[in-house]
Amino acid sequence: MESLDDYKSVALQAAREAGQILLDWMEKGFTVEFKGVMDLVTNADHASEEAIVKRISSAFPEHQILAEESGASSGPSSRYKWVVDPLDGTTNFTHRYAAFCVSIGLEIDGVIGMGVVYDPVRKELFVAERGKGAECNGTPLSVSQAPTLNHALLSTGFSYDVRQDKSENNFEFFRRFVVRAQGVRRTGSAAIDLCYVASGRFDGFWEMKLKPWDVAAGSLIVIEAGGAITDFSGKPFSIYGDELVASNGCIQEEMVSVFFDQ
Ligand code: IPD
Ligand code: CA
Ligand code: CA
Repeated sequence: MESLDDYKSVALQAAREAGQILLDWMEKGFTVEFKGVMDLVTNADHASEEAIVKRISSAFPEHQILAEESGASSGPSSRYKWVVDPLDGTTNFTHRYAAFCVSIGLEIDGVIGMGVVYDPVRKELFVAERGKGAECNGTPLSVSQAPTLNHALLSTGFSYDVRQDKSENNFEFFRRFVVRAQGVRRTGSAAIDLCYVASGRFDGFWEMKLKPWDVAAGSLIVIEAGGAITDFSGKPFSIYGDELVASNGCIQEEMVSVFFDQ
């Protein structure tokens, strides 16, 4: 009988192995292709994904896998779905800007039960299991205590369709948060943003149009570190939804209110 510990140990091995693959390609030199006008993919993304998928599917052949570069596996329908981003922060990676990671989440009966995010440059391994807390390299994580937006360091990101999108996209929200928060950063990796909220480095993070693989693991890591996560209206968050606001909990309501302000 398999347990969550078995899933976790495979996820940890896969994340470490994939992280090393990314570092190796960074050193050797990688090739870059365009998936869209701004959306890049490298052979490192593919190599990382292949290694992760191989590990998961050989350990758990019955499980489904949803991975960014290869899509959903067509295996038997299962209660278990692994949601994988083999390289979150590809644009950073291609510029050798050290903010990228591997993200692996496991959905069980439609709920994320386990998440692992690995930053191979800083050798930081973030892990959470539902109901059991979150940790980084074995040290328990907890969100910050920043009481208001005025005290908060936030992070955000802009989706790849920002050039084509005729709406305000995230610009208006960015303007509103910049004038209310202590600072707003843009790391270029949503999974790292979420882990930094979980570890109290950031007090809050918001973004729109993220994909399930960007947020599957990180969203659980935030919750298990004591944080809050909703959509822009304060309604329950889904990894398949379009909006994400995560915070230390203290400033969640205030962050949500900013989307309604003028
Ligand atoms: C991207 C990063 C980035 C976010 C983009 C994502 P990728 O993922 O998470 O921070 O702003 O929306 O697509 O393409 O580097 O895996
Ligand atoms: Ca991503
Ligand atoms: Ca990616």
